[in-house]
Amino acid sequence: MPENRPYYITTPIYYVNDAPHIGHIYTTLLADVLARAQRLIRGNLSPVHFLTGTDEHADKVVTSAEQHGKSTQEWADLNAARFRAAFEEMGFSNDDFIRTSEERHKTRATEFIAKLRASGAVELKDYTGWYDEGQEEYVPENEARERDYKSAVSGKPLVKRSEKNYFFKLSEYEDRLKDHIEANAGFIRPEARKNEVLGRIRQGLNDVPISRAVEDPSAEVWGIRMPGDDGHRVYVWIDALFNYLTALEDKQDEFWPADVQLVGKDILWFHAVIWPCMLMALDMPLPHCVYAHGWWVSEGKKMSKSMGNFIDLPTLRGYADRYSLDAVKWYLATQGPLGANDADFAYARFVEVYNAELANSVGNSMSRVGNMVDKYFSGVMPTPSGEQPIETALYDQNHEPPRGREFDWNTVIADASSAYHSALSMGDLDAASTAGRRIVSVVDQYIADTRPFTIAKELTKEPTTGLYFDLYQNADALAYILYQCAEALRIASLLLSPFMPDKMKQLWDAWDCHPPEGVPLEELAVFGGEHGLKPGHKITKGEALFMRAKPDDPAPEPIERN
Ligand code: MSP
Repeated sequence: MPENRPYYITTPIYYVNDAPHIGHIYTTLLADVLARAQRLIRGNLSPVHFLTGTDEHADKVVTSAEQHGKSTQEWADLNAARFRAAFEEMGFSNDDFIRTSEERHKTRATEFIAKLRASGAVELKDYTGWYDEGQEEYVPENEARERDYKSAVSGKPLVKRSEKNYFFKLSEYEDRLKDHIEANAGFIRPEARKNEVLGRIRQGLNDVPISRAVEDPSAEVWGIRMPGDDGHRVYVWIDALFNYLTALEDKQDEFWPADVQLVGKDILWFHAVIWPCMLMALDMPLPHCVYAHGWWVSEGKKMSKSMGNFIDLPTLRGYADRYSLDAVKWYLATQGPLGANDADFAYARFVEVYNAELANSVGNSMSRVGNMVDKYFSGVMPTPSGEQPIETALYDQNHEPPRGREFDWNTVIADASSAYHSALSMGDLDAASTAGRRIVSVVDQYIADTRPFTIAKELTKEPTTGLYFDLYQNADALAYILYQCAEALRIASLLLSPFMPDKMKQLWDAWDCHPPEGVPLEELAVFGGEHGLKPGHKITKGEALFMRAKPDDPAPEPIERN
């Protein structure tokens, strides 16, 4: 992924018929972590644009507004505000938030659809088919039959509908699309999803309706009118897909095609088949990657309103209140359904991951090193002497050979950085987080092997001479060891910062080592380099980043807020 090229990442836009839940928060979090990581990698080499927003012209928005005694616009405003507030509460770094009811979207979407009509890729014809009212889509006959004429998502019966519609001639793009998918291994990710899509395309593509007839052409419509025909409005999905372009306004040349379009597996077909073919009809470049994640289930069960087991914002807030927002982000981003399988949101697993990876690993290591520098060197970053004193200092009580030599920090950092970059280019957040944690675990191993606390204790005793002095009463060795640990953790904190922006900022505050704006990761992550911790630099030990969790405590209660 060239780092001097602008980077554009999008999430689906969310229906405003209801409040946000874990599904919406999860996809937006993934985009947030990826956007932050790209900003970190690029510094000011090139800009990053992260778009999210709301999809407002669906029939279910109209119905739920009626049920709540509100006008459609009021209900959309209210729910769009809830999405915006949820994303602010999560601390997401989106650069824009588009609403399809905004004029900027409606105007440009109308232009794109007019162009699509002008391209000859659209025709008016009769259509009868099985309609999934919840999903607002037609289901092909063979699929409808396989599912006993019930919705794959809600389980409700499909409805037979007939209408005169404008159709997009999807079938004409079948070969081109198949060739594109086959020639571009990273176009649909993960691999398993790509194969599913290819399998379905091989069964043949049908033309898709892209409009709905309106009863009274002179009345106002909720949505976008078909350009050139007031008797039709544009089908909500077609209107919605164009958000990825309309939101760019005058930045379209800079950011299109998108680098990553994140979606859930249920909406992959629209994004990996219909959307690219519409772009082909418009003669526009296709996104580099459409990434489809799986679904979260809750304590082993599918989430549903009727079961009352939805992981919603108040539930996540309860976890954030007890364990910190960054712990929630960590759990979602590293344990989530990024691959082809679904993932389970389970309290016991949350606590296990929290203790093992955050409290006992990242948090503990950073606190320990900060505390030792504070205690043994009054918070002043010690000078690592030119020699490697540990090589003489590190016999343990059994006089085993020194182990300090095994730690070649430049290699440790280089390996972690390259693993980090390649994981990110594949959208593999779990592997990217592991690369950051790998540095932390090497630091832990180094501390276990070099025993700085033993050296410090011996230094407080009467000096002795000979081997014992070399081994344990060696202030240079202590200085050397702690400098290496702190500097390695500084670099680990950079790699981990997209996942835990608040906590890593807390560390940077304590150690006074905020990465300067605009400097790309490659320069920031040089061990002992220009942006490294300097001997003589003053740090404070700061508060512990993550308090250990007690597995026997009951799960956190949801916290409602208006
Ligand atoms: N409005 C359309 C998208 C239009 S994009 C041009 C839509 N909206 S949605 O609000 O219903 O869902 C948005 C996303 O939430 C989808 O990507 C979907 O996969 C995701 N999730 C909904 N429930 C989910 C889980 N239980 N787990 C993970 N993600 C899930 O579809």
